[in-house]
Amino acid sequence: MTSVVLGVSAGIAVYKSCELLRLFTESGHDVRVVPTRDALRFVGEPTWAALSGNPVTTEVWESVHEVPHVRIGQSADLVVVAPATADVLARAAHGMANDLLTNTLLTARCPVVFAPAMHTEMWEHPATRANVATLRERGAIVIEPAVGRLTGADSGPGRLPDPAEIFEVCRRVLAGRRAHLAGRHVVVSAGGTREAIDPVRFIGNRSSGLQGYALARTAVARGAEVTLVAANVSLPDPAGAKVVRVESARQLRDAVLAAAGHADAVVMAAAVADFRPVRRSDTKIKKSSAEPDPIHLTKNPDILAELGEIRRARREAYAAGDGPYDAPEGRRSHAGDGPGIGREAGTGGPYPRVIVGFAAETDDVLANGRAKLQRKGCDLLVVNQVGENLAFGTPDNAAVVLTAEGDSVEIPRGPKEDLADVVWDLVAQRLA
Ligand code: CTP
Repeated sequence: MTSVVLGVSAGIAVYKSCELLRLFTESGHDVRVVPTRDALRFVGEPTWAALSGNPVTTEVWESVHEVPHVRIGQSADLVVVAPATADVLARAAHGMANDLLTNTLLTARCPVVFAPAMHTEMWEHPATRANVATLRERGAIVIEPAVGRLTGADSGPGRLPDPAEIFEVCRRVLAGRRAHLAGRHVVVSAGGTREAIDPVRFIGNRSSGLQGYALARTAVARGAEVTLVAANVSLPDPAGAKVVRVESARQLRDAVLAAAGHADAVVMAAAVADFRPVRRSDTKIKKSSAEPDPIHLTKNPDILAELGEIRRARREAYAAGDGPYDAPEGRRSHAGDGPGIGREAGTGGPYPRVIVGFAAETDDVLANGRAKLQRKGCDLLVVNQVGENLAFGTPDNAAVVLTAEGDSVEIPRGPKEDLADVVWDLVAQRLA
């Protein structure tokens, strides 16, 4: 049986952790709850003891003969701190050991997941940002808080994500799929763009966003900082990802390029409309006219090709001694970013080292895929066959990943998470 330590610190969201605890116990994990003293002001010791079936203490001075301050951390397969307050993040980042929870964090050699929850000002304070960066550097997984209503009237980033989302991150960490992306920043695009015809109509596509969201979730579970650019997706935000919502191809382009400037990898799983109407009517088009006006289309930017092109140009400029490179959208690389593409040192040069495309094909799947990989200048291309009941909106997917070196990796039909894991394995290899 896996042994999980659930650390709880003193935030109003503590009550949600009772649900997280149930998810663990009901799926067969042995859970030891380690609250901070003040966490018990919100939910008391009897609740944790009854729900976990294990003794609960906040102090190192109880049951001393069992040396709990060392044993609990040493024997854990996973430590998850939810909610993690600014105070607990600070104490963990500084290696303090002034209660049982921080002792446990110091002695644990297993994966550690923090799910912070606090007011936006506290989350955005430079001290908290620095503590989170330190914890991530050391390999801890720090889930981004959800955005929404906080205690009182205010809202913003700081909410504890849904217990089911935190559980999902932990489940995947426990499944052993982690660590390769700790300290990396990845950008994933998901969903399908919409090109407006008038205020109520658009040209869209069948993409549900499931594959992109699976990519985001699995990257979070591996410790990556994830920016998810979501085009018209109606799924709940994956815990731990920073979600940027967009509608059209041009908005998606702007969001992806802005995030790509400080990313290690970009995965373009979104279905981007190749064309958009030349003119968007400001008012609803009426059917009164006898003959409808034709809709003239113009080409959208090809974002994947543009990413590949910018990177190629920067590599060439660097080789010619014209570096350092500016990140896209005028963002300058700063000292410590590493010398850039070509040298690729440090955490994330000014342009992504790995660019991954997806290719939806209905026929001649592999030949079209190879041509597309070349044309778009990406490192990996995930090719899948699409059509009615294939790929779109289903939880399963099958694909072949083509590499720039001419290799291919077949991924049998299975959950979109499994496909995502193969993609991240290949990305991690290239980043290593
Ligand atoms: N893509 C993009 N920008 C576009 C169109 C597509 O970035 N304007 C990206 C998609 O996100 C995907 C890849 O390119 O990662 C391939 O998309 P696909 O629709 O299969 O290819 P197209 O370029 O549209 O080529 P074609 O329509 O000729 O198959």
